[in-house]
Amino acid sequence: MNTKDLKILYTEEQIQAKIKELADEMNKFYNGEEVVAICVLKGAVIFATDLVRNLNMPLKMEFIRLSSYNGGTTTSGKVNAVDISLPDLNDKNVLIIEDIVDTGLTAKFLLDFIHCNFHTKSTKFCSLLDKKITRKTDVEPDYYCFEVDDKFLIGYGLDYDGYYRNLPYIAYMEKV
Ligand code: IMP
Ligand code: MG
Repeated sequence: MNTKDLKILYTEEQIQAKIKELADEMNKFYNGEEVVAICVLKGAVIFATDLVRNLNMPLKMEFIRLSSYNGGTTTSGKVNAVDISLPDLNDKNVLIIEDIVDTGLTAKFLLDFIHCNFHTKSTKFCSLLDKKITRKTDVEPDYYCFEVDDKFLIGYGLDYDGYYRNLPYIAYMEKV
């Protein structure tokens, strides 16, 4: 696979502009209150690091690792908690940061996990991308940058078999 077969969906400039918009909304919502941002590895790492640099409240970052993919472009339909060690989130404003909500199984798993284990002050789910059309659960992100079609996307954290996360834009593959 070569980057010449990729079609750019969102440029670096479009992504960065949208992140600033989203961050402004969050800065207003949290109004200076402390936030615990939970980045879902590996896909959300690029988005999370850009987003948090636009947030102005006291903030801690946590990282968890979940996986539902078989390696290529197919989801296994089962979410695995590879590493979900978290600090005490009772009475905290929790902001989950994901790369994409597709079926919503990962988001649901994570939200259920947090609700079962903690009484947070607030729990918000933020995703770079929202693939509403493929949803199999009733989960909706509270914040997202772009709604996307049912295409396999790569770049800006999203991978194909581990590759392409480093592209500064979001693209899709013409043929996989
Ligand atoms: P869900 O559990 O089906 O909502 O899928 C969530 C996870 O699947 C995301 O965190 C991504 O890691 C991965 N995923 C879903 N769609 C894509 C895509 O188009 N490209 C890359 N990864 C994807
Ligand atoms: Mg992911």
